[in-house]
Amino acid sequence: MTIIKSSNLWFKYSGSSEWAIREVNIEINEGEFVVLAGRSGCGKSTLMRCFNGLIPHFYEGEMIGKVEVCGLDTRENPTYILSQYAGMVFQNPDNQLFALTVEADIAFALENLSIPKEEIRERVDWALRVMGIEELRDKSSLELSGGQKQKVAIASILAMRPQILLLDEPTSSLDPFSAKQLIDTIISLNQKYKITILIAEHRLDLLLPYASRMIVIDDGRIVLDGKPREVLDKHDVMPYGVSVPRIVKVATQLKKSLGYSFNHVVPLSVEEFVEILRRWRN
Ligand SMILES: Nc1ncnc2c1ncn2[C@@H]1O[C@H](COP(=O)(O)OP(=O)(O)OP(=O)(O)O)[C@@H](O)[C@H]1O
Ligand SMILES: [Mg+2]
Repeated sequence: MTIIKSSNLWFKYSGSSEWAIREVNIEINEGEFVVLAGRSGCGKSTLMRCFNGLIPHFYEGEMIGKVEVCGLDTRENPTYILSQYAGMVFQNPDNQLFALTVEADIAFALENLSIPKEEIRERVDWALRVMGIEELRDKSSLELSGGQKQKVAIASILAMRPQILLLDEPTSSLDPFSAKQLIDTIISLNQKYKITILIAEHRLDLLLPYASRMIVIDDGRIVLDGKPREVLDKHDVMPYGVSVPRIVKVATQLKKSLGYSFNHVVPLSVEEFVEILRRWRN
């Protein structure tokens, strides 16, 4: 079932002469795990803002076309309604936390929606459990590490029970270990809890093995869209400022220089490459 649909979408920020989004027609199905890639300034954040209603309700500019999220026209529904369907997590978790206790931070948005106390408690417990941060419940958001803060920010969005999670470069301020941990948690949200994920990320190597789809944006347009393996198979030297995972480069070089075909499968992770080599050798 289609969960996000944009039809002939264009957007230009007010004061800008250039369109940030150009003619985007997209359909995303329930349960998909979509990675948005593209050089800095190509329009990833802008596209996500179109999907949770920040555009056109918060950012001023000119929007042409239509976006529907869970069947709701984003133009006709306010952000407090849309955010219950498509929750967005930003690059910097500090912008999403209020420095209360973690528990109070997660409950904050729910209290504003006048949800009954008992249900708020259940949802907060659930969000803490899903993100694996139950031990942080009584801490102040101020005393957390970057990775913990980002998990609390995601928990506070999850407590709204959105069907879609929009993540805008959530690992950019994290060290490699915390980034991997956060990405593993995000993968489990998709696999275990069936939440549709759209994530803008530069660390493609950690995500692509689990992504159902890779969309590359350039200058506001969608230029590539498909299963990660298929996209990378056709474009091993990726234009558009996307860094191809190293393992893909290694396999491609071996193919080009030494003629190894590896049964024509592009490996997306080291583990996959080892498995392909093992089968290929036998
Ligand atoms: N609030 C804003 N006001 C005016 N112009 C903006 C605003 N936000 C983004 N833009 C412009 O819109 C275009 C797309 O920017 P956007 O932030 O969506 O790119 P991005 O792909 O998310 O980049 P990055 O990888 O650096 O986060 C750029 O030209 C940018 O300068
Ligand atoms: Mg961005």
